[in-house]
Amino acid sequence: MDIKFEWTPDLSVGENHIDEQHQKLLARVNELLEAILQGEAQEVIADTIQFFDRYAQEHFQYEEEYMRENGYPGLAEHQLQHQGFEKQYKEFKRNLASGMDKEQLALQVENYLGKWWLQHIGEDDKQYSLYIAQHNEG
Ligand SMILES: [Fe+2]
Ligand SMILES: [Fe+2]
Repeated sequence: MDIKFEWTPDLSVGENHIDEQHQKLLARVNELLEAILQGEAQEVIADTIQFFDRYAQEHFQYEEEYMRENGYPGLAEHQLQHQGFEKQYKEFKRNLASGMDKEQLALQVENYLGKWWLQHIGEDDKQYSLYIAQHNEG
């Protein structure tokens, strides 16, 4: 099966630990996609929601600290993006807790996560990466 969500070197932000976190995040989005395609969404959705809840937070904290240390001027705006994710994510947790159909929930989560992470890593994270690369020259 074709892998739809995969980290590629053009997504690198130039910091190894962050790149590793991004790889792991995209790999989990892809795992959920495969589970959906194989009709196993119901078994994995709770675990997936729990994973992103914990791991995204860990990632955001680390990344924000990295931007702060490097004096990135877009930090506050970037934090708003992260908060937007967390806000949307609360709804998934609520839907899970309230017993929403798990297959439907899995589709909803997959659709959101796939778009959000690819766009955020490829565009928003790229911006701090470019800024820091420029300002570290010489
Ligand atoms: Fe990131
Ligand atoms: Fe970010």
